Amino acid sequence: MSPHLYRLPALFLYALFLALAPLAAAQQAAAPLPNVRILATGGTIAGTGASSTTTIGYTAAKVGVEALIAAVPELKKVANVSGEQVFQIASESMTNAHWLTLAKRVNALLAQPDVDGIVITHGTDTIEETAYFLNLVVKSRKPVVIVGSMRPSTAISADGPINLYNAVIVAGSKDAVGKGVLVVLNDQINGARDVTKANTSTLDTFRSPELGLLGYMQDNRAHFYRMSTRRHTLETEFDVSALEQLPAVDVVYSHANVSRVGIDAFVNAGDIGLVYAGVGDGSLAAQVRPALTEARRKGVVIVRSSRVGQGIVARNGEANDDELDFVVSDTLNPQKARILLMLALTKTRDTRAIQQMFYTY
Ligand code: DGL
Repeated sequence: MSPHLYRLPALFLYALFLALAPLAAAQQAAAPLPNVRILATGGTIAGTGASSTTTIGYTAAKVGVEALIAAVPELKKVANVSGEQVFQIASESMTNAHWLTLAKRVNALLAQPDVDGIVITHGTDTIEETAYFLNLVVKSRKPVVIVGSMRPSTAISADGPINLYNAVIVAGSKDAVGKGVLVVLNDQINGARDVTKANTSTLDTFRSPELGLLGYMQDNRAHFYRMSTRRHTLETEFDVSALEQLPAVDVVYSHANVSRVGIDAFVNAGDIGLVYAGVGDGSLAAQVRPALTEARRKGVVIVRSSRVGQGIVARNGEANDDELDFVVSDTLNPQKARILLMLALTKTRDTRAIQQMFYTY
């Protein structure tokens, strides 16, 4: 058989490709843009400074959602965006009440067929907490992306506009469906469970220490490489739709010479849960152990966490949790352990069931 005959199939396929390529391109170009709702809550991304070189000492939560959207006209090329100003606060002032309002609004919007994804603009100080709370109570597989910035909107090389642009792309991306709540800044995609603010002021502040980010933003596209192994959103047992308030749970931060005063104060104030941010592997100082055991005897659920910020707090490691009837936080940092304990206490006070939740979420 002539050697040229072997080439016929390849030539035919190449000709077919050339004929169909314009059709595919037209189809791609004609694909409808995703509908992304932007919920603004304040923070530095909405902040203004006295001059273009003011990157600290500026005022957060000044610029409204419409102005944030207008500042990034490129958004129109990647999504049909519309905005809502849910509140306008610096995120250090975020409260449980804000979270309940935000979560109910997010769930109501995601239930709408004309909403494909949500972006929440937020101060970076408590982004990790709002992200983890929503990761546990959002009841949809649609993308929810939380975004902030480390420089105010008035600064040279403000990072807010590009962060918002990237966040909208992720919120409209089919690749982000089912991955839980995401935090997008600095061209990186982090998961809500493990992300934390690791630097007071640099652009690369958001990290998922040791456990790692989930992906990158590059060339106007989300590139995912990992997914969380922990349950989230539709897979959780938590439902805040009928809740008007969350249980009183606080964190006690340990250090050399720590005293029992803080523990007693929270118990006397009516807390039903306490997170002890212990040193090392969640170690209990001798001078506070009696306060914690007395609190437990009064029915307060105690979670041993660690101020270290990385690694597992091992059950029955630095304390006999079985004997003390305490819970350990696994790898959750103290501020996230507080969130899971709060939601756990909306379901049960059984410490064995609560411990299982810390191994699940
Ligand atoms: N006040 C801080 C906040 O709203 C500013 C930090 C920021 O948003 O980057 O979280």
